[in-house]
Amino acid sequence: MDLSMKPLLRSLNGEAVWPPPVWLMRQAGRYLPEYRAVRAGVADFVALCTTPDLAAEVTLQPIRRYRFDGAILFSDILMLPWALGHGLEYRQGEGPVLPPLRDAASVAALDPARVADRLAPIMQTVRLVRAGLAAEGFPDTTLIGFAGAPFTVACYMVEGGGSKDFAAVRAMAYAQPALFGRLIDVLTEATIEYLSAQASAGAEALMLFDSWAGVLSPSLFRTHCVAPATRIVAALNARHPGLPLIGFPRLAGLLARDYAATGVNGIGVDTGSDIAAVAAMLPPRLALQGNLDPLAVVAGGAPMAAETAAILHAMKGRPFIFNLGHGIVPQTPLDHVAALLEQVRAG
Ligand code: CP3
Repeated sequence: MDLSMKPLLRSLNGEAVWPPPVWLMRQAGRYLPEYRAVRAGVADFVALCTTPDLAAEVTLQPIRRYRFDGAILFSDILMLPWALGHGLEYRQGEGPVLPPLRDAASVAALDPARVADRLAPIMQTVRLVRAGLAAEGFPDTTLIGFAGAPFTVACYMVEGGGSKDFAAVRAMAYAQPALFGRLIDVLTEATIEYLSAQASAGAEALMLFDSWAGVLSPSLFRTHCVAPATRIVAALNARHPGLPLIGFPRLAGLLARDYAATGVNGIGVDTGSDIAAVAAMLPPRLALQGNLDPLAVVAGGAPMAAETAAILHAMKGRPFIFNLGHGIVPQTPLDHVAALLEQVRAG
């Protein structure tokens, strides 16, 4: 046990830290009035992600308000396809819109050579946040860098945005396996470079968001989620020994067991999974992270308290990081977040 280590890093190191460290996915975002104020002053979301002063400011906002144990870099998983030269636009009320990628020419047009330059502002954000956490008196808060997992990023590229069922990307994975495999390969290599640059700039832990992993069949999940994550973890372990990684194979259910073999130090659990059952099928030193329903925080009161108590009860005694099962939603009342933290911090 190393008490000089930050609590979140101790959990990822396999310790049953209690009360558990806590942060919330999408904690920097529209439920915070101070975020909305910054957002109102920028032309578009990509500009916010590529302006280090502003991105660092909104990364720190939720830490100042709630002292979370994790500060997640403010950026987006779709900044990687943007840096590869694929288009990206965020439309109000519509979410991200990208040119639908459907052929070999579009994959060949992706340009890994330009990624480092285009993502340089994000590395500057990482440096500013690391310095800001120290300067503003948050020595226990861990800076978490992140990327989208290759499959989830491919989902948005192939569909051209979000989708109900990701039918186009799944059809491509079956019907054009060589083309789809090339796309996953390009994204895997670029993700390794992107995460490695974040680690070099000062990220202390990394998270890989595979938000749509659960739409795949088990065999395609192994090919397009587990295998790329295994490569990413191995490359980062070689370049940055001791730097922990959290995987989030959302909606993967029983396949979380396969995902554990990637070598990640922690696994994010989604809202629909029984976190005690997930724990029972995974190695005892693997940290779990999750999995309160974001809508329970919108409701607040007794329902939120009961769900939270059940998760805490199930996770006591094993390495655990309290979080939501998916991102916090814009309509979440601020005092419900405060009440949640009070309960989690009481253990
Ligand atoms: O606070 C944080 O978590 C840090 C920043 C962060 C954002 N997106 C900021 C953001 C992180 C870690 C993400 C991850 C992300 N982005 C994922 C994986 C996690 C998940 O939610 O499943 C995905 C799939 C995306 C892609 C994305 N970005 C979508 C689908 C949307 C539109 C939907 C929405 O919530 O608005 C975004 C936009 C986005 N990314 C916003 C924020 C704060 C809202 C845009 C705005 O403020 O104008």
